[in-house]
Amino acid sequence: MATIKIPRDDRTITDFEDVVAFLAAQGIEHERWTPTRDVPEDASAETVLEAYAPQVNALKARGGYVTADVIDVKADTPNLDAMLAKFSREHWHDEDEVRFIIEGRGLFHVNANDGVFVLEVGRGDLIRVPRGTHHWFDLCAEKRIRAIRLFQDPSGWTPHYTDSGVDRGFQPLCFGPAYVGPMVQPHA
Ligand SMILES: [Fe+2]
Repeated sequence: MATIKIPRDDRTITDFEDVVAFLAAQGIEHERWTPTRDVPEDASAETVLEAYAPQVNALKARGGYVTADVIDVKADTPNLDAMLAKFSREHWHDEDEVRFIIEGRGLFHVNANDGVFVLEVGRGDLIRVPRGTHHWFDLCAEKRIRAIRLFQDPSGWTPHYTDSGVDRGFQPLCFGPAYVGPMVQPHA
């Protein structure tokens, strides 16, 4: 489930409605999707797209997206580090970044008007980051993500780097499966 961390305020948001409201204020859309049928972990891209067809089609109509595909990244994916390095520096795109997470997790840092916040996404999370938003993306320790991507025009989804250096001030730390909130953190 999507979780927000705001480092400057030492604040974490985990409640679904609160996460949706926080992101909406930043122009980012977040939904939870449930498949129309069971999707086994080894399901083909076709099966995955079929299972989420109602949601994908509704979003295509709403956002003017013309194509959808499935990206599959694992720890042993060839050239993984080079691939990830393209997106772990602050950048923006000419079109929306739309991701629905089927498996695994990922971490978006978003450089919003009032500072950087961290958005961790996982299985079942849809995220729609508007074009022009300054952000960067990392995988979590297990280096696993499988996601549906939607495009208005695949050629528009090229990173434009800001070279601001803001990204260097943040460690890509995922909350981890054991993360249950600050109240029960073990003493250091
Ligand atoms: Fe991006």
